Amino acid sequence: MAKTFEPMLVEEAREHLRGVVNETPLQFHAGLSQHFSAKIYLKREDLQVVRSYKLRGAYNRMRVLSSAEKKRGVVCASAGNHAQGVAFSCKALKTHGIIFMPRNTPRQKIDRVRSLGGPYVTIELYGDTFDEAFAEAKSVAQKKKRVFVHPFNDPLVIAGQGTVGAEILEQLSTKSGEKIDYVVVPIGGGGLCSGLGSYFKWKSPSTKIIGVEPAGAPAMDQALKAGKVVTLEKLDTFVDGAAVRTVGDLTFKLCKKVLDKLILVPEGKVCETMISLYQRDGIVAEPAGALSIAALDQIGPELKGKTVVCIVSGGNNDISRYPEVIERSLVYQGLKHYFMVNFSQRPGALKRYLNEALGPTDDITLFEYTKKNNRENGPALIGIELARREDFKPLLKRMDKIGMSYEVIEKDSPIFSFLI
Ligand SMILES: Cc1ncc(COP(=O)(O)O)c(C=O)c1O
Repeated sequence: MAKTFEPMLVEEAREHLRGVVNETPLQFHAGLSQHFSAKIYLKREDLQVVRSYKLRGAYNRMRVLSSAEKKRGVVCASAGNHAQGVAFSCKALKTHGIIFMPRNTPRQKIDRVRSLGGPYVTIELYGDTFDEAFAEAKSVAQKKKRVFVHPFNDPLVIAGQGTVGAEILEQLSTKSGEKIDYVVVPIGGGGLCSGLGSYFKWKSPSTKIIGVEPAGAPAMDQALKAGKVVTLEKLDTFVDGAAVRTVGDLTFKLCKKVLDKLILVPEGKVCETMISLYQRDGIVAEPAGALSIAALDQIGPELKGKTVVCIVSGGNNDISRYPEVIERSLVYQGLKHYFMVNFSQRPGALKRYLNEALGPTDDITLFEYTKKNNRENGPALIGIELARREDFKPLLKRMDKIGMSYEVIEKDSPIFSFLI
């Protein structure tokens, strides 16, 4: 088994993955291309067999299991997509897998793991983050003497993920001779970026590799800044596919070599992109799957006249997450605001607020108030959706004008995280 990674392993993986994974479409996106005056293509790994590229790495690692190893079975830890790749591979290779996922893994992903692996998998929900599930899975693998199938820090996993890059080059450059200027790739632990980036640096060295992390989980960004792997203290797990506290030592080394730029995208922007992909294109992208497109605004001017490929890395989105996605998107766009308003407890105070503070298109989406009999004032929690972000300042002005006592609930306050 390979101890180190080299780009040749990607070509080898490609041969072994034929007939197992889909060659996913590379689609020209007219709307984005027009918007950025560039040629933008989407690599649709949301249409992969397990709705993410993760099958590539998992199968490529598991195909080399010896018969003794297959008999003992494997263990993995995953935020949900690697688990599906491992579950699929367990069934295909007839070996058993114990699959650890954090307790907050979206139900859709858990159900998919169960249905892909059937009797070949046992699911263990453990801890609040991927890293907690990971630590437990490693210890169980050691105790049970099973192979641990790492989600990113393994040469064969990296090589399998790298086949996304080999496919892109074949689909675009080999067929039409088109030079690819940029590939924009999401980063969690760094497996995809390591494999794909190394392959491009080998076969198409002029292509710039742009990595993208969620702003609330910048583990690779922090590692690159520190010059070594670091563990994040704070982690926003919203972009569940790409929210890891610690990247791998191998993926760190490779990403450091291949990355031309690393972009951090706010979670709200990811939500805005997910909604637009759904509404405009009928594409169901999960948060990590939308990261690469969400990053384009930050490098917009650079892209003019260039050929750009964005990796839509996964489409396993639980329908129950959409209300939160919509909410986060509205807040990000400056269209949704929350206030604590101190109403005087005399008749007519609310009526005055409605008539004189609210503008004609300001919409109350939340109102919580309990009358307290022995007080002059009573606080109300109010959520307001605006038609335009520019309507916010005039709203505050009108509230000031009628002498309302209020507090804007800021995005970084603990009450805010309670609201969305
Ligand atoms: C859909 C999706 N995109 C991106 C990533 C990040 O991948 P990596 O850990 O290879 O950097 C993951 C990881 O699970 C994922 O599931």
